Amino acid sequence: MTLRRSAVTMAIPVAFLGAMGLWTGPAAHWLAQGPIQQGHAEVSCQGCHTPSPGTTRQQVQARFAFAIGRRDSDVDFGNGPVTSDHCLACHARPNERHPIYRFREPRFEPALRAVRADSCLGCHSEHDAARVSATPDICSACHGDLTLARDPVNIPHDRLIAEEKWESCLGCHDFHGNHVFEPPTRVQAMIPGAAIRAYFHQGAGPYGTFKHFEAKPE
Ligand code: HEC
Ligand code: HEC
Ligand code: HEC
Ligand code: HEC
Ligand code: HEC
Repeated sequence: MTLRRSAVTMAIPVAFLGAMGLWTGPAAHWLAQGPIQQGHAEVSCQGCHTPSPGTTRQQVQARFAFAIGRRDSDVDFGNGPVTSDHCLACHARPNERHPIYRFREPRFEPALRAVRADSCLGCHSEHDAARVSATPDICSACHGDLTLARDPVNIPHDRLIAEEKWESCLGCHDFHGNHVFEPPTRVQAMIPGAAIRAYFHQGAGPYGTFKHFEAKPE
């Protein structure tokens, strides 16, 4: 019951704001579940929250019926669910190193239990002010048996993995491969873990200034 009730209290203000056209005003920020991340300061709420079908009145009635147990399923209220397609409308890139669709192949099922790599929201949740909401050791879900034929690193990859140095990976590789960044070959030169964690929470990007692709606000 508490869960359902919170869905209703959350949903009502969203619908009213939507109906009153206030999505983009200062009230919208007050309403948001938490601050959106810096990179999205210029992105409108509708970039990620698009209206769902049905009039506001129908939605109010359906939501109420669900809350008091007269309906089996909840409905989208004023705003449809946020999906990866919203993100890809602005962030699709031809050079993506880990495209989410790839992880919908059945062989990745065990990995997806550790990290939902088939959805942007598996690692980015928004409204928690963080750039990345996952932990830096996520690489372990898929790269457990990695060996390089001619490994250029002074502590080779298979040894890093045997010693479970999973937090080292992001010290030399970004995840999406979108930064113009050459991985170092000496572990002494890798980006420290503290800088990676700061970057996950709005700190400066540690992989240099340039990206292959940058999204444009709408
Ligand atoms: C970059 C995408 C993005 C932007 C921009 C964004 N949100 Fe969200 N919002 C999300 C995600 C992701 C969730 C989590 C819900 C989900 O997973 O569907 C969410 C959840 C919410 C919720 C909780 C209710 C619900 O539908 O689950 C409210 C309310 C909300 N956002 C309001 C806002 C407002 C107001 C703005 C503009 C200031 C805004 N959002 C901008 C992505 C975004
Ligand atoms: C309407 C366009 C738009 C939508 C929709 C959108 N973004 Fe963005 N996003 C941007 C822009 C513009 C930037 C800032 C420029 C950049 O870093 O590419 C940005 C920045 C970011 C950043 C930070 C980049 C950095 O280096 O600081 C992340 C992470 C991000 N977006 C993830 C997402 C996710 C996840 C979603 C879906 C929930 C999403 N975005 C939806 C336009 C959008
Ligand atoms: C398995 C976890 C994971 C998934 C799934 C994921 N990301 Fe990321 N994302 C990260 C990590 C880790 C970083 C920080 C390292 C980096 O910059 O590549 C990041 C950084 C970013 C950045 C900032 C750097 C850049 O490349 O511009 C953007 C934007 C972004 N992600 C968008 C997305 C979008 C859009 C999706 C869905 C298509 C997505 N991410 C799916 C883990 C993930
Ligand atoms: C859900 C599974 C999954 C996760 C999680 C994952 N990877 Fe990968 N990664 C892959 C697959 C699959 C490939 C492609 C391998 C191939 O083509 O042979 C790949 C390729 C790569 C490549 C080579 C890309 C290229 O351009 O050839 C690097 C570097 C990499 N991953 C680093 C990372 C790092 C760092 C992390 C953690 C932040 C990570 N990966 C997390 C599955 C994953
Ligand atoms: C000290 C830096 C360093 C660390 C730490 C590191 N790598 Fe690498 N990695 C490299 C370099 C250098 C290469 C070879 C150059 C290249 O392929 O980009 C490489 C290559 C790779 C490749 C193959 C890319 C290809 O083109 O086939 C993958 C996958 C990869 N690393 C994943 C990981 C994972 C997962 C971790 C964490 C266990 C990790 N790396 C830790 C520097 C590092």
